[in-house]
Amino acid sequence: MRMGTKIILLMSVVWIGSSATKVEITTGWKPELGFVTECSWTLYSNDSLQSVRLYNNEQQFMIYRPENNGREHMQTFPLNENFLEVHCVENDDRGVTGKCILTLELFKPPVADLTIACEVSGERPMFRMLKKDIIVSTFVPPTEAVINVVPTGQSAQSVILNCTSTGLPAPSLSWTVGDQKVPHDFSGVVWNKTSKLWHSWSLFSYSESTSEATCTPEVNMDGQLVKALAAMYSGASRVVGIQGVIISILLAMLLR
Ligand SMILES: *[C@@H]1O[C@H](CO)[C@@H](O)[C@H](O)[C@H]1NC(C)=O
Ligand SMILES: *[C@@H]1O[C@H](CO)[C@@H](O)[C@H](O)[C@H]1NC(C)=O
Ligand SMILES: *[C@@H]1O[C@H](CO)[C@@H](O)[C@H](O)[C@H]1NC(C)=O
Repeated sequence: MRMGTKIILLMSVVWIGSSATKVEITTGWKPELGFVTECSWTLYSNDSLQSVRLYNNEQQFMIYRPENNGREHMQTFPLNENFLEVHCVENDDRGVTGKCILTLELFKPPVADLTIACEVSGERPMFRMLKKDIIVSTFVPPTEAVINVVPTGQSAQSVILNCTSTGLPAPSLSWTVGDQKVPHDFSGVVWNKTSKLWHSWSLFSYSESTSEATCTPEVNMDGQLVKALAAMYSGASRVVGIQGVIISILLAMLLR
């Protein structure tokens, strides 16, 4: 008796789960590529796919109709100086389930976030429709700071530290010595075409008589300060320092 009730309950859950129209949309960062947004759908099991309309910032830019486009369809759209590549595919010949994958491939730094919407419609006579949207935030958190000692060939008491971090937008790097915020000497950012990220670097002349130097990557995201793990350098921990000195000595010898 109990067993029977359980089975009926389970069956009704499964039945509801597989018969209702459902649309799911997700987005994420894919290293060395860009942002990938995926819209997948499940129609009533007795329905078939009429169309999928895709919108960017509320403007329809594409319609996928299996009747015209077939079970699989690809199309590419320019977007600022980048490309949005769309790939739609039905998992069965009525398109009861399927998905569209939208890849924002980065060639240049993105200029703004996107709002992608996906509107899935079943066939006549019902044209059951469901629309979902998602914000594609063109943000990649800054990576942990790394400090390298720049060989200068000068005294070991004073070294130049080069701190780096990558992210989107470009991380800014701030230095502190002890508790004091100190200005950097030089800094720069480079867009890396392979990683599709900004690489930031910042130079600081460190003298060993002072306390340890800390470099913290940070970035402003919608008015919120996002910090990454800091890197620290002190004259006492000579691991990095000694390498720097050896390289400087070698350089000095080579350059004679
Ligand atoms: C398909 O199934 C749903 C739910 O069981 C039902 O309401 C509908 O009448 C059926 N037929 C069509 C053409 O959608
Ligand atoms: C500091 O590091 C960055 C990134 O690796 C590099 O591009 C830059 O040339 C370095 N600067 C110096 C002075 O070594
Ligand atoms: C760019 O990023 C790739 C990793 O994606 C890295 O291997 C390469 O060294 C970087 N180039 C520069 C100039 O930093």
